[in-house]
Amino acid sequence: AVEIIIDTDPGVDDAAAILLALASPELAVLGVTVVAGNVGLEASVRNACKLLTLAGRRDIPVHAGASRPLLRDQVMGKYAHIGVFPDQIVPPTDLLPRQVSAISFIADQARLAISEGRRITICAIGPLTNIALALRLDPDIAQGIDRIAIMGGTFATPGHRMPWSEYNILADPHAAAIVFASGVPLILFPLDVTLQALFTQTDLAELEAANGPAGRALAGLLRSFDRSDIQRYGRPGGPIHDAMTIAFLLQPRLFTGSDAAIGVTLCGPTAGQTWMDPYGKSGLPPNAVVMREVDEAAYRRLVTTRIARIGAA
Ligand code: BDR
Ligand code: CA
Repeated sequence: AVEIIIDTDPGVDDAAAILLALASPELAVLGVTVVAGNVGLEASVRNACKLLTLAGRRDIPVHAGASRPLLRDQVMGKYAHIGVFPDQIVPPTDLLPRQVSAISFIADQARLAISEGRRITICAIGPLTNIALALRLDPDIAQGIDRIAIMGGTFATPGHRMPWSEYNILADPHAAAIVFASGVPLILFPLDVTLQALFTQTDLAELEAANGPAGRALAGLLRSFDRSDIQRYGRPGGPIHDAMTIAFLLQPRLFTGSDAAIGVTLCGPTAGQTWMDPYGKSGLPPNAVVMREVDEAAYRRLVTTRIARIGAA
């Protein structure tokens, strides 16, 4: 199995990503590392613990990380994410995070992998603060990381928090700059691709069809957004951005992408804006594969059928 760490700020679409990973025998989740983002650190940690308990995976360690971005003022998710997940949707748990910080956990796991001749994969689905701190703490760990699949950035699609930026990069552009320059192979899922797959009422019904606890909970969380905002996306439904990083590890052929040099603006009014150079105009070597297209139907099916199955009779 591919060994992964999920670095996350759950977050409703983060919940889908975590549950998809837990539903997938092709992946071994070494740990869930939590960062402040959509909601504060404490609520994000609670949500991670609730999700692991719900999926019957209390054995997977949860580690709390950064409660603030590196330099900029904190920007939280606006309306879409609902603090601590309501108990009637995701039941309460007594599971607690481990003592070791997320940053040390990431560094330790990468170091261990190096010493054993393995490499780990990181799925980064929140602001990149924890990963940047781990890479600053111990730059050599880059050798132990096979690749980082990042949900973040936007190029041709207007941003959703600011017109020029996607939330995860806007929330900590300096951390993004550190990760982009780390030398670790990156796979980027910008809004340009994540907004190509919209989940509709049919998908929510699919999640609930087997009456499994995870499928029911995710459908409940998704219903807490307004998923039928036609104005916003041009057709009914809503995106599940973060689960694309996991879907890619399971079925890479669902996606089309290309190599590019990518970077992020750090100063001025458009701080947090990502740029990409697919044609080599800048002379900079490619540091990422940027995903451009997804097979929408296959992605929706993968997410709904696998999560619906967790714990179903
Ligand atoms: C990203 O921002 C968050 O709101 C989501 O969880 C996702 O990681 C989408 O831009
Ligand atoms: Ca997220």
